Amino acid sequence: MTVAAINPFYGARRGNPALPTQIRKIVIGNATLYRADCFDVLPMLSGIDAVVTDPPYGIGFRYRSYDDAPGKYDSLMKRLVPELVRVTADGPCFVWQSPLKAPLWHRYFPAGWRIIAACKIYPADRSRAPCLSWDPVIFWSGNSLLRDHLPRDWNVDDLRPWDGYRGGNPVPCPRPLSQVRYFCDSIQADTILDPFMGSGTTGVAAVMAGKRFVGIERDPVYFEYACERIEAASRERAHADV
Ligand SMILES: C[S@@+](CC[C@H](N)C(=O)[O-])C[C@H]1O[C@@H](n2cnc3c(N)ncnc32)[C@H](O)[C@@H]1O
Repeated sequence: MTVAAINPFYGARRGNPALPTQIRKIVIGNATLYRADCFDVLPMLSGIDAVVTDPPYGIGFRYRSYDDAPGKYDSLMKRLVPELVRVTADGPCFVWQSPLKAPLWHRYFPAGWRIIAACKIYPADRSRAPCLSWDPVIFWSGNSLLRDHLPRDWNVDDLRPWDGYRGGNPVPCPRPLSQVRYFCDSIQADTILDPFMGSGTTGVAAVMAGKRFVGIERDPVYFEYACERIEAASRERAHADV
């Protein structure tokens, strides 16, 4: 897939009148990153093999700029799922969710959706006792089975020793990189999309897996941080390939 294929505005980074000002596009190695509302970019994309994403859960999480009000969850999911089905041509999608919304999932996800348990082991001395030690990841695909992509429908990520999130990550709930790597290393896809990129964890995992990545994030601070992480991962990957 070429970058031109995923965006008719290819080459229109800054100063090109073809690119709407609310969309900023950056290409870093095999990663194409948009600072934009994903619903403005998704209709322009094609050639995406799989989605690995962690959208807002609608549980009042405190993001820098996004309002995660519970009342917004229904409209977000009704809009998002058909876009993901279209952009992957009914291919594999892996979507993190909050268990609090489990009673509603049947309304949004295509027939045959499955749950993957993304388990996390915390150290005993973590100051705040973790009430949730696994996150559900919803999988669906119209043209493949879960076992075509992952060796198991569970993954355990050992977060010990816990010392908080290092590196000044501005996103309040970044995914553990090792767990996202479990997905990106295994799934059958050349190009992975994350339309809710946050601090770029999926992008780092995709780049480290030697895959192409398309990421979208609307918050400018999160976006800059994601660009830095993905650039560092691309450099590391390039050195490893030499
Ligand atoms: C759960 S966080 C993603 C965290 C990410 N997995 C990480 O490891 O850093 C969800 C992200 O979606 C972003 N977001 C919310 N609505 C969006 C939209 N319409 N388009 C693009 N990004 C959006 C928020 O700013 C937030 O960064």
